[in-house]
Amino acid sequence: MQLILAPMQGLVDDVMRDLLTRIGGFDECVSEFVRITHTVHSRQTWLKHIPELARGGKTPAGVPCTVQLLGSDAENMTVNALEAVRFGAAKIDLNFGCPAPTVNKHQGGAVLLKEPERIFQIVKALRQALPETVPLTAKMRLGYENTNCALECAAAIAEGGACGLTVHARTKIQGYEPPAHWDWIRRIREAVAIPVTANGDVFTLEDYQDIKAASGCQSVMLGRGSVIRPDLARQIKQFERGETAVSADFAEIAGWIRLFFDLCLAKEADNKYPVARLKQWLGMMKKEFLQAQVLFDEIRTVREADEVKRILENFEKQQFELCR
Ligand SMILES: Cc1cc2nc3c(=O)[nH]c(=O)nc-3n(C[C@H](O)[C@H](O)[C@H](O)COP(=O)(O)O)c2cc1C
Repeated sequence: MQLILAPMQGLVDDVMRDLLTRIGGFDECVSEFVRITHTVHSRQTWLKHIPELARGGKTPAGVPCTVQLLGSDAENMTVNALEAVRFGAAKIDLNFGCPAPTVNKHQGGAVLLKEPERIFQIVKALRQALPETVPLTAKMRLGYENTNCALECAAAIAEGGACGLTVHARTKIQGYEPPAHWDWIRRIREAVAIPVTANGDVFTLEDYQDIKAASGCQSVMLGRGSVIRPDLARQIKQFERGETAVSADFAEIAGWIRLFFDLCLAKEADNKYPVARLKQWLGMMKKEFLQAQVLFDEIRTVREADEVKRILENFEKQQFELCR
């Protein structure tokens, strides 16, 4: 059973990958997409997007980080993929699901799901160029406007030579609107000969059990659920081992929040990045935890990192006292 942390542009950067893989449960994570246009990215750019490349392609907890590419020009993607490998990428994933209008306007992401033949050509070109030792996988939605080409796109990915496929079970126009269509993941899994990873709307252990049953997949990717509930993957792994799945109490979560802020500060010591990232995270967590709402309200108007740090330290102490 494999659990994969989803790529999430602007949300799961290297710091969030570091934190979530430390908490545990994940076997693999995937970088935010690196957009490939006409240029060849420098080593500096690859390391900026995926600092894990400088440490054997793994997060500090030792979880492998796959490099995700987004583009439509097979030749340029090939050149860039080879560069990524030269700088340390051990596995490459291709994005055929991004719904962003700017990306789709330039023929990247979900818009390619209208053209299975083009998908096939991209996957094939990359597979032929990459060393055999570097696995190539892809991630797709069910289509752009509709699911008419879903099976054809999945077949194109498999026949192009990818060794794995993640399916986010929605079309582009369905955005993130629930429900995710898990039955479609099963249809795709049954139609292709490569392993399929199920993705979409797993927010609880029960959702995980349901997506596994509906899709029949042995591999599940967790996205927003693992940001909102940072111990979700750990709980799932406990369950899979036959142990009792234990939810973290908020004292433990408060410790992770403080650690996340420290890791952000270590990355960029100015005020803007750490404070903005923390507010973004609490903004998501407050849907699940009242305490996150309380903390969010306390820091909402604060801009100075020093002041936020002081509030976090007090908050962690209070939570610890409450949970003792
Ligand atoms: C903020 C955000 C950014 C995302 N960025 C990417 C990305 O860079 N590459 C990608 O393949 N999918 C991206 N996705 C899609 C997720 O990987 C995942 O497929 C989707 O969120 C559904 O899974 P979930 O319901 O577990 O969140 C993004 C999703 C969100 C919410």
